[in-house]
Amino acid sequence: MHAPDVVVVGGGLAGLSSAYTLARAGVRVTLVERDAPGSGASGAAAGMLAAQHEPEADGPFYRLCVHSRDLWPELAGDLLAETGVDVELARGGIVSLADTPDAEDHLGLQATWQAAGGQAVRWWTPAAVQAHLPGAAATRGALWAVADGQVEAPRAVQALHLACVRRGVTFHVGTQVLGFQTTGRRVVGVDTTAGPISAGTVVLAAGVWSGALASWLGVRLPMFPVKGQMLALRPDGPGTGPWTARLTPVYGSGCYLVPKRDGRVVVGATAEPEAGFDRRVTVGAVARLGQAAAALIPDLERAPLVATWSGLRPGTPDRLPHLGPLPGWEGVVAATGHFRNGVLLTPVTGQVVADLCTGRTPAVDLQAFDPGRFAFGTAHCADPEVAPCRQAGAVACPYRVQD
Ligand code: FAD
Ligand code: GLY
Repeated sequence: MHAPDVVVVGGGLAGLSSAYTLARAGVRVTLVERDAPGSGASGAAAGMLAAQHEPEADGPFYRLCVHSRDLWPELAGDLLAETGVDVELARGGIVSLADTPDAEDHLGLQATWQAAGGQAVRWWTPAAVQAHLPGAAATRGALWAVADGQVEAPRAVQALHLACVRRGVTFHVGTQVLGFQTTGRRVVGVDTTAGPISAGTVVLAAGVWSGALASWLGVRLPMFPVKGQMLALRPDGPGTGPWTARLTPVYGSGCYLVPKRDGRVVVGATAEPEAGFDRRVTVGAVARLGQAAAALIPDLERAPLVATWSGLRPGTPDRLPHLGPLPGWEGVVAATGHFRNGVLLTPVTGQVVADLCTGRTPAVDLQAFDPGRFAFGTAHCADPEVAPCRQAGAVACPYRVQD
């Protein structure tokens, strides 16, 4: 058997999308996943394509998000045609409620800079909010990001996995990557629990665990888990409305609500960097999310609770992904650190990785996402949500990215 051209480490959405796009380009791909595809953050995600909600300002990240969101319809169509799996893409926009004076100010500014950049945004009056979300608690209005939307993340995992198999990607599931094979400053394969695998290029798509893998090559790729707990409700009449019929996610100050095609409303999510790698669901988080949901739409208090789960977002100090070659090495590309936006960034991640592995210039400017930006010197962490050193009681940055 010939060695694969590319070995992808990790079977989350970043790895699956990379493998799929590479296979479509005619590249021989092997994907190594230590557990099962989607067992990391990807299977836990709410699935929002919140290009206009998550970025704080105009800039490279915002443009990357909008670009990737606009690639989703084509990817969803291709996956349906190739696998028969519908990822449940909905483009009913995303609504952000102005449920506090601060939220109103923030959303007003957001509407201004996004409209100036050509994105479709609409301001809803309190009456319009009531028309779309019957029974919602009082608000000062809402911002509707018209072109945002959602997919069902576990279905996206399933569709990409199946599409990879159909296109000849070799899967080693239940197989852990233990190290890299190197020749000089070139990575030439991986060592795994099932033996060594040679490759022309290795794609590092191991989610929050990617930082540890990079350290085996002596590369500082700061990453940390930001635990997110979620629950799902199944409202049966009260608590539903046009927003559930159109599958329009709703952000409030204390939580978000994501209506799904099967009638569930997913409520998310906590952001707990202090929890480390502990994925257990806690009663406190479930109670807080339930209360936050009912604070937005009081009727949801009576909705049956049908599921709880959690996942570990791959956080980075500046909230930006690591997308590009690892510094100091040939033959290894990082596709990780997608933090809160790995579903949204699935299509562009695959395209960027395929371009880099086949010697083409990616269509997007990757400078802001250079995995080498923390390799030397100092850098500044974004905020307490993603920077463990900024947590109460912490004394130093465990990732040594600050002075
Ligand atoms: P993962 O999905 O974590 O995959 C990494 C894989 O690598 C895992 O399967 C793991 O088993 C494997 N692996 C690790 N180490 C090894 C090794 N040594 N050998 C072999 N395999 C290995 N994003 C959005 O865009 N929209 C949302 O609405 C959204 N909601 C979210 C809600 C929650 C609660 C959470 C937790 C996340 C959410 N996200 C959302 C973020 C999104 O889920 C992540 O950014 C994305 O899934 C990361 O994908 P990944 O492939 O990089 O990592
Ligand atoms: N993007 C939603 C979350 O990470 O919770």
